Amino acid sequence: MGEQPHLGEVQETLLIPLYGRARDARRRASVLQDARAAELVDAIDYDFTRFRGPSLGGSVLRAAIFDEYVRDFLREHPDGTVVDLGCGLSTRFDRLDNGRVRWFDLDVADTMALRRTFFQETDRYTMITGSLFDPSWHAEVTDGARAVFLLSEAVLLYFPDTEVRAVLREIAEAFPGTGLALDTGGRLMMRSQDRNPVFKQLPARMRWICDDPSTLEGLGLRLRETRTLATPQPGVAHGWPARYRYGLRLLRWTPPVTTYKLNLFTTSDG
Ligand SMILES: C[S@@+](CC[C@H](N)C(=O)[O-])C[C@H]1O[C@@H](n2cnc3c(N)ncnc32)[C@H](O)[C@@H]1O
Repeated sequence: MGEQPHLGEVQETLLIPLYGRARDARRRASVLQDARAAELVDAIDYDFTRFRGPSLGGSVLRAAIFDEYVRDFLREHPDGTVVDLGCGLSTRFDRLDNGRVRWFDLDVADTMALRRTFFQETDRYTMITGSLFDPSWHAEVTDGARAVFLLSEAVLLYFPDTEVRAVLREIAEAFPGTGLALDTGGRLMMRSQDRNPVFKQLPARMRWICDDPSTLEGLGLRLRETRTLATPQPGVAHGWPARYRYGLRLLRWTPPVTTYKLNLFTTSDG
């Protein structure tokens, strides 16, 4: 008998990208080669086969684009601090550990309880139980000496616009001159959720509509890069299987692809 997940509505959505990465790991031409995700799926007592459709592959490509944002940061700051806000069962630290980075994964209590059954802390890897909306984590991840990079992947989408904008303003003030990667979804993407096969299986719905990530610049953020799944960093796409490279080339002007953006910001210097 595997580990039974006891997760709230939004928290349960973490099982979608986990299954996406596990399926990807089992393919001959894998994007992330995330064997740990496949082990976790085997170890969790849950019917993952209910998840179908393009969101599974999409979450793998999204992870690859976020990975590259973090890699870029670590190339410049190999001793930097990375904070993943709403990490779920992400294995990004395992994928990107350069032997020097200080890494914090943060998530809410039920998700962290599940995560702690599979992951152990080390002197460079810490799990924080808490909400990204509660600023107590700010002091925990700051030591004054290391450059910091923040990311939040497929998390803010589930919260109302006013809450998201307030927390981004707060983060920009607390972490001046810091890189911040986050994804945004436009109106068309939000309106099509009920037709998305993975969301037909779950009660959670995404709520934050952001058609244009540059509108977040008023919150103390500067938009440095914005990508879609069809416009990843060139070096990243190079390794992707042909079905993604050619498939996305055909779909790159269609709303499901154009309205979902993977963004890299820098917070103002203060
Ligand atoms: C779709 S999952 C994404 C997980 C992970 N980032 C990934 O891409 O695999 C959404 C995540 O948001 C987390 N979450 C929900 N509310 C949160 C909050 N207030 N603060 C931090 N994380 C939260 C959930 O527990 C879940 O892990």
